[in-house]
Amino acid sequence: MSETFTKSMARNIYYGGSVFFFLVFIGLTMHTTKVMPETDNREALNESAARGKHLWEDNNCIGCHSLIGEGAYFAPELANVFQRRGGSNSEAFKAYMQGWMAAQPLNIPGRRQMPQFNLTEQEVNDLAEFLEYTAGIKVNNWPPNIEG
Ligand code: HEC
Repeated sequence: MSETFTKSMARNIYYGGSVFFFLVFIGLTMHTTKVMPETDNREALNESAARGKHLWEDNNCIGCHSLIGEGAYFAPELANVFQRRGGSNSEAFKAYMQGWMAAQPLNIPGRRQMPQFNLTEQEVNDLAEFLEYTAGIKVNNWPPNIEG
């Protein structure tokens, strides 16, 4: 066996490595596409949840909150607020959201503030539906604890 590392050996490692990892990449992409129908909670995506997603974007909730770890870290994670404040019950969560959104800002000294968005009852219900849908997405139990 040759003791020297030749140019052709380097080239083979380069091409071989590229092909190997490209195949791994294709395989993982196919796997993700295959398992998505079981993990992305698409059956819970109704029209109300879709409207809630638009409200979520138009009001820039993500500018303060994170959702499944993505977003800003100023305010609590909301991917599991359905479990945390609604006890995984749709009616209880909607009631909580109506109360919470109407009560803002709380004006408690030393506590971070959430603005008043002046949303209608229907809009708050749509946001609740969207957050309930998000809570059902299987994300390997992220966030790791109920407080987010
Ligand atoms: C300017 C920053 C900001 C924006 C924008 C914002 N929030 Fe908040 N939100 C907060 C803060 C801060 C808290 C925690 C307040 C507290 O505990 O008193 C909070 C708390 C919450 C809670 C309660 C979380 C819990 O665990 O009890 C919900 C639900 C919520 N926000 C929903 C929303 C929705 C829906 C939107 C978009 C319409 C939104 N927030 C936009 C700052 C924001």
